Order: sequence, then structure tokens, then C-alpha cells
Amino acid sequence: MSVLLAPSILSADFGRMAEAVQALDEADCDWIHLDVMDGSFVPPITFGAQMAASLRGLTQKPFDCHLMVDHPETQVRPFVEAGANRITVHVEACKHLHRVLQSIRAEGIAAGVAINPATPVEMVRDALPLVDLVLVMTVNPGWGGQPFLHECLTKVREVRAMAPSAYIEVDGGIDDTTAAAAVASGANVLVAGSFTFRGNPKERLATLRSAACERFES
Ligand code: DX5
Ligand code: ZN
Repeated sequence: MSVLLAPSILSADFGRMAEAVQALDEADCDWIHLDVMDGSFVPPITFGAQMAASLRGLTQKPFDCHLMVDHPETQVRPFVEAGANRITVHVEACKHLHRVLQSIRAEGIAAGVAINPATPVEMVRDALPLVDLVLVMTVNPGWGGQPFLHECLTKVREVRAMAPSAYIEVDGGIDDTTAAAAVASGANVLVAGSFTFRGNPKERLATLRSAACERFES
């Protein structure tokens, strides 16, 4: 199973966001991960659909929108209009998860569901037919640069057993030392924020790509 890289612009310089997206456009990566935070579901506020719309013209790469917001149903249409290619919502933020996922699919884009480190995989089992991606958080959402929670890999293995052909995305603390373990556990989409922008994104992503392909010895 090939591994996709989805660098997050959360760790870019927000004053030079266009340059950051252009750098990712030229780098070896597959999707661009947009971390949307509302100051309620998670403490920080990042940006909304207007930012996505402004960046949309800079790259053809798919926008992988991770909504860390309460009431994500209110953001589906704005993000679709902004050019989102996929929208992932948190199970913990959805009172009516199926309805939100159906509304994303009805817009003709891909839907995903995310689980926090404290959320058991059982919470998303019934929603699997409605998604093509499960995002297993490997840190508690809210900030970049936090240490990888190795214990979350048990859930990656559980989701992989439940959904053999799904995208399983891991997000939080992914770097050249954790990527191989995540892939060995069944992840096939790696989000990386601080690792990508702690240097030249092109070089950093090339390093991450090789690390993701390395055999993991447990
Ligand atoms: C965290 C966000 C992540 C964040 C990861 O709440 O969902 O996408 O960008 O950052 P790193 O890769 O620095 O852990
Ligand atoms: Zn994210």
C-alpha cells in the first residue's frame, strides 16, 4: 500500500502563507493539510474557509481539510465553495455524525472522520461505510509540535483491521523517527506540520518519504 504525505500548513509562517503553499506545491507531497481550529473544540483559532479560498489558486494539490471545530455541519458548504477536496470532522464534535458525513458526500467530495487519543475506535465503526478516511490523532488536537503518542498505534491497527481499504491518516508528532512505526501499524496517510517547516519543506518531505518507506523493527 503506497503512503501519502499530507504536510500541514499549521506550522508555516502565517504571514507568508502563499509562499508556504507554493513550496509544498513544488515538493514531493500528495495532499495539503489544512488545520481549522475554532477556539471552542480546541483552544486556538487558526483560519476558516476564506483562507482556503485564497490559497486555492496557488496549487492543484488536494486540500485535506481537518475541521477541529464544534458544529462542523455549518462549515461544510463554505469549505466546499472554497475548493476543499476532502473534509474530515471529529466524531467528538458531531451530534449527528452520519448526517454530517452524508452532507459532505452529497457535495461530491470525500469525507473523513477523526478520533482523538481518548476516543475508542468503536465510536466510528458504524460510520465506516460513509467515509474513505479515518484520521487517528496521535496527539491531542490543538497545537503543532507535540510529542507522538505511541499508544495510539494500537488504534491504527484496530482501524486497519476494520477498514482494510480505507485511508488511515495519522496526525501529530509525525517525523522521521515515528513515520515507519505508523506505516507498519497500517497508516497510509502521514500528516506532518512542524517536521515539514523546520527547514526547507522540499528537503524535509524527501526525508520523511524515505523514513516512511523504511522497515520498522519493533
Ligand atoms: C494538531 C493538528 C495537526 C498538526 C500536527 O492539532 O491537527 O495537523 O499540524 O503538527 P505536528 O506535525 O507538528 O505534530
Ligand atoms: Zn490536522
